[in-house]
Parts: sequence; C-alpha cells; structure tokens
Amino acid sequence: MKNVIIRFLIAAVAAIAVRAVAADATLAVDAAKPGHAISPTLYGIFFEDINYAADGGLYAELIQNRSFEFREPDELFAWSRIERGGAGEFAVKADAPLNATNPHYLHLTIRQPGFGIANSGYDGIPVRNGEAKLLSFYARGSGDLDIAIESADGKPLASTRVSKISNDWKKYSARLPIIGNDDKARLVIIGNAAATFDLDMVSLFPEHTFKDRPNGLRTDLAQMLADMKPGFMRFPGGCIVEGKDLANSYRWKDTIGDVAERRQNWNRWQNAVPTKAPQYYQSYGLGFFEFFQLCEDIGAAPLPVLNCGMSCQYQDKQLVPLDQLDPYVQDALDLIEWANGPADSKWGAKRAAAGHPAPFGLKFLAIGNEQWGDQYFDRYKIFHAAIKAKYPDIQLITSAGPGPDGANFDLAQRRLKTQPADIIDEHYYKDPSWFLKHDNRYDNYDRKGIKVFAGEYAAHRKDRKNSIEPAIAEATFMTGLERNSDVVLLASYAPLFARIGNTQWNVDLIWFDNISCCGTPSYYVQKLYSINRPDVFLPCTLGGSGAVPPPTNRTIYAVAGKTGSDIIIKLVNTAGEPADMDIKLDGIGKVTSASQTVLAGNPNDENTVITPRRVFPKESSIENPSPTLHRTLPANSLTILRLTGS
Ligand code: AHR
Repeated sequence: MKNVIIRFLIAAVAAIAVRAVAADATLAVDAAKPGHAISPTLYGIFFEDINYAADGGLYAELIQNRSFEFREPDELFAWSRIERGGAGEFAVKADAPLNATNPHYLHLTIRQPGFGIANSGYDGIPVRNGEAKLLSFYARGSGDLDIAIESADGKPLASTRVSKISNDWKKYSARLPIIGNDDKARLVIIGNAAATFDLDMVSLFPEHTFKDRPNGLRTDLAQMLADMKPGFMRFPGGCIVEGKDLANSYRWKDTIGDVAERRQNWNRWQNAVPTKAPQYYQSYGLGFFEFFQLCEDIGAAPLPVLNCGMSCQYQDKQLVPLDQLDPYVQDALDLIEWANGPADSKWGAKRAAAGHPAPFGLKFLAIGNEQWGDQYFDRYKIFHAAIKAKYPDIQLITSAGPGPDGANFDLAQRRLKTQPADIIDEHYYKDPSWFLKHDNRYDNYDRKGIKVFAGEYAAHRKDRKNSIEPAIAEATFMTGLERNSDVVLLASYAPLFARIGNTQWNVDLIWFDNISCCGTPSYYVQKLYSINRPDVFLPCTLGGSGAVPPPTNRTIYAVAGKTGSDIIIKLVNTAGEPADMDIKLDGIGKVTSASQTVLAGNPNDENTVITPRRVFPKESSIENPSPTLHRTLPANSLTILRLTGS
C-alpha cells in the first residue's frame, strides 16, 4: 500500500512539473505604440460612515456621545453612574444649553463626594504607557471636578483636577500623560465636594492624530488610506447622504465650523447594528472640512456627494418638490465657493476660518448617491444647469442607479441621451464569477460619450468571505478598467472600513478594532493597482490556452502600461494551479532592471487583525531581465511586473 501511495505521489508531482513547463499563455506588449493617457484619478477610495467607519473608527474621538445628544435607547446613552461612597444624581437637560444646535447637556448634582459618571468610549478606551490624551469639555457650576482615565479594573492611568468651575459655560482642557496600558479603559468624572455642574462636549483625543491635525483622525487607519495613494476620495456616502428620510439626510453645512456647534444626526445604517450597540449616531466631528483636509493630506482629489432632494429609495423615498429644490441647489453652489472661493468670499471665509485660507481645488461633485428613475433625472437636470452656469469646469457625477444593468440602468442611459452629464456613476456588488466575465464591460462603450465612474464595487461570495477569491475576481475586472481608462476616469471599491463587531455590510476593504487594523486581500489588490497606475496605456495581446475564448473559460487576464521608462504589466491567474507565461516586449531594446510583486493564496485565505499579513504582497527582483521573459504565475494570484527599459 505504501508503495502505491509513493508511486501515486511521484506521478502527481510529474504531472505538475509537465504542466509547469508548458506556457499557458503568451503576452505581447507593444511598447512602441503607447495608447491613451490614464487619468491620475483612476484608482480612488470611497468613504462612507457605515460599519462605524467615522465615530468609533477613522475619527479619533474616544468618547461616545460626548455631547449628550444621543438619547436612545436611554438619555444617558454610553454614560454610566459612579458611586464611590458618594451620592448624587444626574439627568440630561436642555434649558440654557451651550448653543442651539447642541441643545442637551448633563446636569450633575453631587450630594456627597465620590459621585460621578463614566464613559467607556467605543467598547473601551485604549491607552498605552508613555502616550498622552487630550481632554476637553465645557462646564458651568461651582467647585472642582476630578477627572481620571481608569483601567477596566479601576486603577488610575492618568488624572487631573479641574478647579473652580465657572458659573457660565467655559471650555476646559488638560493633557493627560498615561502611566500603564489598557485596551478597555474609561474616563471617570467625579465631584469631590457637594456641588452642581453642567457638562457638555466631553472629549478625549489621542495626542497624536494623522498629520497631527486638531480634531483629527486615527493614525493607523488614515495611514492605510495614504498607503493606497488614492487618486480621489468620494465621501461622505453612500446611503447616508440620502438618509432614511430627508430629515436624516446628510447636509454638508451641518458638518463644518466649531465641533460644539455641529448638528448631530442618527445613522440610517443603525437598523442592522447588533443588539450590543443598538444605536448608531453621526457626531459630524469628521465633517466636510476634515474630509477635504484628509484628501489634501493623502494627495486625493476630493469628490463630495450631495443630496439631490431625494431620500433613500430603499427606505422612505421622500422627494423635495421640483419647485422647492433651491436650498439643495444652493448647498451645491455654496460648497463650491467654500472649497474653491477666495478667503474673502462668504463661504471661502468659513474655510479660511477653519485654518485653510488656500482653496482646496474641488474638481468633482456628485449630485445624489445611488438614485434612479425619472424623479432623479428631473432633479439632476436642475442642479446641472445651475452649477454649470456658475462653475462650468466642475465635473458633475450622475447616478446610473443601483445596478450595472436592468430597467433603472437602461432608463439612465435613455435619459442621458437627451440631457447633459459629464460622468456617470455605476455600482456593482456581484458574485466573483460576474467580475471574471465582465472585464470587457467597457470595451465597447462610446469613446466620445459620457465618461464612467465605477463608484462602488466589490465581489461578494455567498458566504461573504473577505478572502483571496473575491479579491482576485476584482483584480481581473480591474484589468478591464485600466484597459478602458479612456472611458473610465474613476473607480473605487466599497465599503472602505468595518469595525469588528459593529458591521452592517460585508465585505469591506479594511477591518479594525480599537487598537489594530488589517487590509483584506481586496485592499492589497486596490493598493497594488493604485501604486502601479501607469500614465499611459500600452496595447497588448494575450494568447495561449489560459486566454482562449470562450471568455468564461479564461483564467488569465492582463493589462500593460508605461510610466516614464517603466513598463508596468498586471497579470491575474484565476486558476487553482500555477500558469506559465511567456512575455514579449516589442519596441524595447533592453530591460535594465525588473521587479515583481505577487499577491497569492488559497481562495479562502483571509487576513485578520491577529494575522494581518497572511495574504500580503511579496516583492522581489527579477534576475537577468530582458524584453522576453518567462514567468510562472501562482494559483489565484495577481502579479505586477515593473520593467525599466531603454
Ligand atoms: O456601500 C454600501 C452601500 O451600497 C452604499 O451606501 C450605497 O450607495 C450602496 O447601495
């Protein structure tokens, strides 16, 4: 029996060896005939506050419900009572508030010292020895407050006393150096004598945020975005722009200026939040100024999305009548002035007051999110006319509806034959096999027609695993995006972030908890395409058994381009076994240096915050490179070759 097994293994190895010798595909790249220019904005990102992407995520604020405006399921949402031999009571009040847009505050009565309140942030406040946190709050009252960051088991890790609280609202701040480590610390505020206090905007930030911006972002999560070198960032959504109803919709003017004066809103994604965190809110601390600042900090063109006078068509479907659309259109005009106008213009002055006198250079603006139907196109038309009359250079983005085909998609195509549009935003969440079959989606699009924004896409397996298989399917489709980048100007995966334990949508690009994060295989596909985006497309011909028609049997996909003297070739092998490939560069005399980056694994392989590099790109140099190359593409892989030629 043992001999039989050995003979079987030898035969199997021999079969694999034979397979590895034969070329499964050939690729001829015509470096002498560069094609169209590839837009620097081709690969971007799409941020939406879903899965706790903003509060409890990218926005570095550590206190949940800092402003006491989140009043469901109870008015002390995220706050709890502390009694250390003391006595007292607290309640949320609304008379004589800090300001009209922040109407609620906490009224704290200390009857005996040792009474107070605590906030555990988002499943705990993570602290590390040697770092510091920045505390601030508004208060009025009498007496002193003792404020500490305590470990989960009650040990003080940092503390301060704020003395002589004033009778009128006043802002207090303190730097709290941390001694000790804890992943689940909390902020505790206690009175040390009988007194009453009103508290609002109780805030705790890491001392260091991304680029050390005040009111800033979590460094590790923002760095993940920066590392992608995205050409643009679409924000703030997504369905949250539409809102469940119009009252819940996202209006950018609510999100700028002093954070203490920003309106608070609930998040329409809350319905799907697990019972652990039954309510999901938007503090708007990460607002339009912070989004534009982030875009600038990571070199991405800002691409804001505005409500078009419609609430979510999957939910309340409210419509602003056409003759009452002016405030919405005005929001769009004012946003352009806020972003691009001189510092002494009405809206430009607000940007300057926030610390950015220079214009942000807004070029793209989306009118509506994923809208469809005549109602949308009737509204879009009004926006288009008003914006183009004042700002003809702003590129406007029109929705193609929720899917890549079907009645709503067709209606969009029909309507756009008779009304103007610059760029159409197409969305597709499909199973991996759809992506394998549709890399040719844009091959026959009208080269002179409306340009395309592939604004939201992701391959969804039935089990919604964030594994190699969907990532590689996305990589095949992206060869088609790059090949057709004379038509496709922008593309972004969705959604971007997911907080472990607080998700409403699988699959996602980046997962995180309070202390760690990890890129999914899809993240690395997006990143590799973006950091290897060529400036110019190079025609190439794929042949061999891995590439033969019918397309449904194809296992190998390729696209090529050029940046300076670098030829960049992207090769995808979807087969469950390695594929051999002969590559020939026409029009190149010599290749002086070459490297390859490979992302590969088993279809089910995933990354987690504990094993973040299980699926990770491996880089190596190619010895003795020449214009003719032989490469073996691993099973389920994306390979990127960079060849410096002359
Ligand atoms: O990305 C998640 C959601 O998918 C977006 O909010 C919406 O635009 C689409 O339906």
